[in-house]
Amino acid sequence: MLSGLVLPFAALAQDFKITHGPYLQAVGENEAAIVWTTNRDAVSWVELAPAGDDSFYSQARPAYYQAKDGNRAVGKLHKVKISGLAKGTEYRYRCFAKEVTLYEGQSSVLYGKSIATDVYGKKPLRFKTLDKAKENISFTVVNDIHSRVPDLQVLCKDVAYGKTDFVIFNGDMVSAMNDEASFFAGFMDNAVGMFASEVPVFYARGNHETRGKFNAQLSSYFPTSTGKLYYTFRQGSAFFVVLDSGEDKPDTDIAYSGLAQFDAYRTEQQEWLKGVLQSKDFLSAKYRIVIVHIPPVASDDWHGTNEVRDKFLPVLKNAGITLMLCGHTHQYGYAEPDMQQHDFPVLINASNTALDVSITPDGMVVKNKDLENKELRSFTFH
Ligand SMILES: [Fe+2]
Repeated sequence: MLSGLVLPFAALAQDFKITHGPYLQAVGENEAAIVWTTNRDAVSWVELAPAGDDSFYSQARPAYYQAKDGNRAVGKLHKVKISGLAKGTEYRYRCFAKEVTLYEGQSSVLYGKSIATDVYGKKPLRFKTLDKAKENISFTVVNDIHSRVPDLQVLCKDVAYGKTDFVIFNGDMVSAMNDEASFFAGFMDNAVGMFASEVPVFYARGNHETRGKFNAQLSSYFPTSTGKLYYTFRQGSAFFVVLDSGEDKPDTDIAYSGLAQFDAYRTEQQEWLKGVLQSKDFLSAKYRIVIVHIPPVASDDWHGTNEVRDKFLPVLKNAGITLMLCGHTHQYGYAEPDMQQHDFPVLINASNTALDVSITPDGMVVKNKDLENKELRSFTFH
């Protein structure tokens, strides 16, 4: 006879659930991607509603599925890209996942439970598309967090929907991409808890995210407008170029076990960058900001630094760049424009400080603050 303490098998099994996210990625004027994971395989979709105070349940909402090559995707990582959106417009959204308990043969599929983000006990999640005509912009930059979640929480405590347009993670948010858990536990779960379901994150890869056997999956979790880890976006009068500076040592170094080819990767970006600088959105922007993890002006002469300097700076010269934002050194640094190499300032944010940037018709103000929320220094650009 069974003891009263023995639970039936079904009760022992973990419920089907959303394990991470949702978070926003690749938000543009007319599109957005929403990413989340589930603990078991599922078909996923997002329901979208216009902004408003009416109940999410007031009418059927259009559903956007994750699909590839005509098939709705089945898996644990869910990425729903929504296009055809209006610029500068708020939307409400709800994520769904229907568990696939059996997928055999050509069409033998059994479904389990369907789950969704809460629109009953909580307000629906929301986001706003970007808009070139937006007058006032606000964003926050952090880097080199290396999984120090308490620091991330302090540095981003003022990030909020409606106040902050987006957050930039400028690399080395973790020390290695060993598995999915390393980046969710290392920073992204906390970012979701604080803001990332409603305030988009734009990610610039650091050299540490190139490490670990999960590194190749990073772009799957952080989709961009180009499908690459280098991309651009425009918000208001500012154009952003996000570059991937890759590893810091030569590709041949023993540390990379014969798997690195970042020289060729940076050359690929150099060619892409030339085209970016001819684009209408770049040319018409008042502020042109380059985001790159490894600065070209570090005191060392490591290979990564030399590559960023030799491959990216000549292309950026005379292009009207307003500012380059970097990390990597873990210490504050500021290099005044140098007409020989970089005709724009290079600002290095430390590992334990943030940059709060605001753009208004009066100019662009970059405030550097520490963990006590003390303003350390401020820069104004016109
Ligand atoms: Fe770094």
